[in-house]
Amino acid sequence: MAAQKLPADFLWGMATASYQIEGSPDADGRGPSIWDTFSHLPGKTADGLTGDVATDSYRRRDEDVALLKQYGVKSYRFSISWSRIIPLGGRNDPINEKGIRWYSKLIDELLEADITPFVTLYHWDLPQGLHDRYGGWLNKAEIIADFVNYARVCFDAFGDRVKHWLTFNEPWCIAILGYGRGVFAPGRSSDRSRSSEGDSKTEPWIVGHNVILAHASAAALYRTEYKQRQGGVIGVTLNGDMALPWDDTDECREAAQHALDFSIGWFADPIYLGHYPTYQRALLGDRLPTFTPEEIALVHGSSDFYGMNTYTTNLCKPGGDDEFQGNVQYTFTRPDGTQLGTQAHCRWLQTYPEGFRLLLNYLWNRYNMPIYVTENGFAVKNESSMPLEQALKDTDRVEYFQGNCEALLKATHEDGVQIRAYFPWSFLDNFEWADGYQTRFGVTYVDYATQKRYPKESAWFLSKWFKEHIDSQ
Ligand code: NOJ
Repeated sequence: MAAQKLPADFLWGMATASYQIEGSPDADGRGPSIWDTFSHLPGKTADGLTGDVATDSYRRRDEDVALLKQYGVKSYRFSISWSRIIPLGGRNDPINEKGIRWYSKLIDELLEADITPFVTLYHWDLPQGLHDRYGGWLNKAEIIADFVNYARVCFDAFGDRVKHWLTFNEPWCIAILGYGRGVFAPGRSSDRSRSSEGDSKTEPWIVGHNVILAHASAAALYRTEYKQRQGGVIGVTLNGDMALPWDDTDECREAAQHALDFSIGWFADPIYLGHYPTYQRALLGDRLPTFTPEEIALVHGSSDFYGMNTYTTNLCKPGGDDEFQGNVQYTFTRPDGTQLGTQAHCRWLQTYPEGFRLLLNYLWNRYNMPIYVTENGFAVKNESSMPLEQALKDTDRVEYFQGNCEALLKATHEDGVQIRAYFPWSFLDNFEWADGYQTRFGVTYVDYATQKRYPKESAWFLSKWFKEHIDSQ
């Protein structure tokens, strides 16, 4: 029997985000973003570090594209920094041609190397001007109008060459981490030891609602004015890990579904099914905003595919008072005391390929959309404190990718799930937000003292695996 393969048009690539790699915060007229401000506040990031330099990718564009080419990727997922395109952010603010030129050049270089650009419009770096002017994501009418304007500028400038658009990366993180827990920019929270401003009971749900509407409005613009002419697809990408019952009881089975409702369903249910999850509405009541009939008509069906960012699997038990997780407790420890998989550097991540396959099935059965895996990755324990040669032999990361790639193949062939893309996170070690530079997700090691890039074994593993498993026609 011929080996199972992925279709010839399957996109595999690597992913990054502007603030995590670019550096050069003042270059060519870029304006400040909420991540510049937040990361410069004392105590907000590990070791007080910022994205001021990051992997210096703004200045190393050619070198980075050459490395992607060497890896043989078919696609590269990157995000555009809104404040490079419109430094002050708003619809009446000036457009920065130099910023546009930089991304335009990147896109051209990718296409020249036969690499499909896969573009995220918003990966968390809101122009600071919009936060100061009217409260950023809290102000529904203003932020939607400004986001749609920014999206239009991008469609106009890049849409002749970009055929894959993501409106937002991980709305859950924008809302919960930025406005609930207060650990990401803009750092608002009811926890007064963390923040002097914010209301964690209401703001995350308002922000999530506004992000959904901004996504749907930009997608509607694309579909009515650009899609026919430019011929691309547009969607949103959601974070969400598989949730499994901790033990075989009804309570734990229910808890696992509740966890999925609060992580994935919050965004995916309105977008693909046309309503918020019943459990979420019951728990939050009026604090969860409602869509008007016109709004839900705009939201329902607003994504051309399911954009899936996933890293791990959680075992779920009912209880606890973490409303952001739907009052569900997560663990990796099974009832018999064993661990689910190999532990990563960050405490929230263990390997579990079977969970990855189950999640692909869950999303396919519930939402019935082709899936683009837009992020999946592993941070090896203590990689930052190892000698270079040891860090380059990233066996745990190879094991993670091998397991998940095989699961992807099984989900495709044995379960009939339609999967169109797979993007390991990340192309390079980079600024891991509040965790600074200690946590390394890259398949390429970055020596921050010299900015030299060193491929890890996982990069070559992926390169070979996809070469062997994508049909050649
Ligand atoms: C999700 C985010 O999109 C990305 O920015 C982050 O670095 C990875 N997960 C790893 O935490």
